[in-house]
Amino acid sequence: MSETIDSLLHEDRRFPPSAEFTATSIAKPELYERARKDRLGFWADQARDLLHWHTPFTETLDWNNPPFARWFADGRLNVAYNCLDRHVLAGNGERVAIHWEGEPGDTRTITYAQLTEDVKKAANALETLGIRHGDRVAIYLPMIPEAVVAMLACARIGAVHSVVFGGFSAESLRSRISDASARLVITSDGGWRKGKVFPLKSAVDAAIELSSDGTESTIEHVLVVKRGGNDVEWVDGRDIWWHDVVDSASAEHEAQPFEAENPLFILYTSGTTGKPKGILHTSGGYLTQSAFTHKNVFDLHPETDVFWCTADVGWVTGHSYVVYGPLANGATQLMYEGTPDTPHPGRWWELIEKYGVTILYTAPTAIRSFMKTGREYPQKFDLGSLRVLGSVGEPINPEAWIWYREIIGGNTTPVVDTWWQTETGAIMVSALPGITSTKPGSAQVPLPGISVDVLDETGHKVGNGNGGLLVVTEPWPSMLRGIWGDPERFIETYWEKFDFEGSPNRRMYLAGDGARLDSDGELWVLGRVDDVMNVSGHRLSTMEIESALVSHPIVAEAAVVGATDDTTGQAVVAFVILRAKQAEAQTAEEAEAILKAQVSEQIGAIARPRRIYIVTELPKTRSGKIMRRLLRDVAEGREIGDTTTLADTQVMQVITDKLK
Ligand code: PRX
Repeated sequence: MSETIDSLLHEDRRFPPSAEFTATSIAKPELYERARKDRLGFWADQARDLLHWHTPFTETLDWNNPPFARWFADGRLNVAYNCLDRHVLAGNGERVAIHWEGEPGDTRTITYAQLTEDVKKAANALETLGIRHGDRVAIYLPMIPEAVVAMLACARIGAVHSVVFGGFSAESLRSRISDASARLVITSDGGWRKGKVFPLKSAVDAAIELSSDGTESTIEHVLVVKRGGNDVEWVDGRDIWWHDVVDSASAEHEAQPFEAENPLFILYTSGTTGKPKGILHTSGGYLTQSAFTHKNVFDLHPETDVFWCTADVGWVTGHSYVVYGPLANGATQLMYEGTPDTPHPGRWWELIEKYGVTILYTAPTAIRSFMKTGREYPQKFDLGSLRVLGSVGEPINPEAWIWYREIIGGNTTPVVDTWWQTETGAIMVSALPGITSTKPGSAQVPLPGISVDVLDETGHKVGNGNGGLLVVTEPWPSMLRGIWGDPERFIETYWEKFDFEGSPNRRMYLAGDGARLDSDGELWVLGRVDDVMNVSGHRLSTMEIESALVSHPIVAEAAVVGATDDTTGQAVVAFVILRAKQAEAQTAEEAEAILKAQVSEQIGAIARPRRIYIVTELPKTRSGKIMRRLLRDVAEGREIGDTTTLADTQVMQVITDKLK
């Protein structure tokens, strides 16, 4: 690993912005200067310039009780008003907010005026259903405009949304509903994926019925958008069609201002335990940084650009760069429901040509899979409209970066590799396309107003040319405000490692990523240093998959690792010991199939292991800790590393013999 990284760090290709790009660039080098001189003043300027405040704030940051930050705390605003009404009032109601394309090829064009009206109606409908300020609403929808409308309708009335990605199972949905005590779920009958309708409503029904501890679900109503046309079960009194209550609702709804620290959403993400964390984001700071980064990192010219972020709204990227950032900035964007290869492998490129997309933001996994299918597909289409390309979610290898720039970007577009997390809320480290000379494979530099560093285990700066732990050294506006219902876990997970005694306000945020600084002091993010995997840019927890496996009666013990995968970055590989009777009762192939289905059912198809090895032993240290490093060697087909700290040094021999 470290050799490959060293060779990566010697990457000497540089792509300075063209004079033409720099001339019209939104971001100017003075931004860095201003932020360096007065970080808080810089963020206050951004909050004032980019947002409309019903009541202006007078205090920028309150960091008297770290790690609980309050940004712009005495200001009041309405997030939905900022994303909608003010653009209409400014005379831009006829601008397209969303060009939407369904997977089967049906389309909708939604202007800012139309979207504002839709959200006002949905806000009225939610209020009729009894949803009030502070209530939690779960959203489990495909990539259809109603997902955006539902999120903004919650924001408009001060309710807190918790979007659950449609690929998660009924069990995952149930635990998220229950953790947040959601009163309403907004879903659809189904959605389109790979040429077929997949059901969603049935998972909601199951989630409401399922109850691990005998308690009743907190859900009072299920609001159902008609999309798939598939049959659904119906519970009278509980289930309501979206079109029945939203279409007929009044289009008058005045947005009330809320405090800047009013909770906006909870988004669950995997951590190092079996239980996902409900990451809490609030309003003013989150919207400021989402809007600032969307505008500057992508060089957004809202009158002429067509922005396309390919992320699903179920992930943080979909929150910040499909919904809040672009709409706060009055951007025109493309939203696509389906998969990139349906009905043909050139679908994305066809869409870029059709809508004249100018800015594309996607994940390295997608780029690598396009590289595999071949350049002939993108080359069939005119991609000349593209002028900025972005990457997010996992490290991008220089080869994929160069392919992205050459084949998709016609060898001219800047490529920005953006590092951030569900917890950071918005982009933290990235080139700015009119300013930075880009460098393939490196996330490069913190944005103006953001301070990051790389520290060793003892909290010392590693300096250029070295690797260590990535930290954020100063609070930032879109930082998470906590883990829903669990302040202790919030402190332990992120703030305890670098808690400098005697100066509590010098606490630093531990990102959980390993990183190196190259000789220019630029950042290379290497991946997670904890038991979190990154599969296709999606975060999965080792522990969560292990507990799904051991909850099956045939399993005695399980260990999960993330093995390197050419396309998806990492892939889930499990090692399982069966209970004695089961080991005789079924073949390893049968057990593997049963357990793959178990993981899909417990967590969702995205967590389904690529391989499950049935073994008789697991490598453990004398204190009983599983040595996943050695299992990773097996999963990646490598020579087994140092086994001297194992309780039984023969174990790896037993495992590899068995798998031969
Ligand atoms: O490991 C880092 C990786 O994705 C993790 C965050 O995952 P999530 O909260 O799901 O958010 C993904 C989208 C923002 C990080 O801890 N990651 C994200 N961006 C990059 C990255 N790794 C390397 N380079 C990136 N640009």
